Amino acid sequence: MSHRDDSSPFPGRARARALANVALVKYFGKRDAALNLPAAGSLSIALEPLETVTAVEFSEDLEADVVVLGGASAPEAFAARVRRFLDLVGELAGRRRYARVETINSFPTGAGLASSSSGFAALALAATSALGIDLDGLALSALARRGSGSAARSVPGGLALWQAGTAADGSDSFARRLVEPGDWDLRLVVGVADPGPKEVGSTEGMEHVRRTSPYYDGWVRTASADLEAAVRAVAARDLERLGEITEDNALAMHAAALAARPAVAYLSGPTIEGLRVARRLRAAGIGAWFTCDAGPQPKLLCSSADEPAVARSLGDVSGVQEVLRCRLGGGAGLVSVSGKPS
Ligand code: PMV
Repeated sequence: MSHRDDSSPFPGRARARALANVALVKYFGKRDAALNLPAAGSLSIALEPLETVTAVEFSEDLEADVVVLGGASAPEAFAARVRRFLDLVGELAGRRRYARVETINSFPTGAGLASSSSGFAALALAATSALGIDLDGLALSALARRGSGSAARSVPGGLALWQAGTAADGSDSFARRLVEPGDWDLRLVVGVADPGPKEVGSTEGMEHVRRTSPYYDGWVRTASADLEAAVRAVAARDLERLGEITEDNALAMHAAALAARPAVAYLSGPTIEGLRVARRLRAAGIGAWFTCDAGPQPKLLCSSADEPAVARSLGDVSGVQEVLRCRLGGGAGLVSVSGKPS
């Protein structure tokens, strides 16, 4: 890592993009909440074209951070997370400067799709680049993890493995890419279901499940075993095996969440119907495997050949308002940098 000379001119500006990702083996439970260190590793697919583009401009003229989301002043909860993240970047730089942060998601906002994975990956890359802090991919992934755990996986993109790590400071808890976008023609079809009443946030949900679910320890053991099996399936490019693990793992996570007291219930009618669609499709010889995160959207993993049939069936589910057809995408990248010293 190289640090920018404190006497160098400002402002520094950078714009970065990153894709959202969905876990095939889920992260759900922290061994260290402050550092976002997971109880087990996870595996994800980066979703092209679900993208966040974030511009960061540090300026000596600002007296506070300004956070803009989708063209409007960001809600306070989101702005506070961004400010906390900029504090971390300030620690790396050796000095905290204020910034204007403008972030835009290409996918429907308010649809209950997790944008924190792409959002914090893009922010980590834009903010460090604007300050001339040169991190390698693994260190950048570990930094993005501090904003949102799943963001660690949007830094490398592709099929990404986030290793839990063992270091107390989290320095070995980062993600790396196992499969490049062009190397496996995987698809993930998202059914955008009515988000309904506000869901329990993932951090809050994880902590509650860890404290109160009688199945939490079993879930963590299951996730670790699933990850090993999934990595073998990925190495063999065995979609059927990876799909089975994906579906089983998601249902195990939700089982642990439903067993919490009181229950954390992310699943709704259309979610369960999405699971049934996957099973019906498989019975008819079409490979489709269900997953779902901290919201009601059913998501089906499939091959490119089966994607049209999968998208049609998911679109027919009552309560699914829109279908997003995603393919395996790449990692976070810079769009532009300026204001850097020559
Ligand atoms: O990155 P977070 O803190 O929003 O957690 C993501 C949690 C899940 O989406 C439920 C699972 C995962 O691994 O992405």
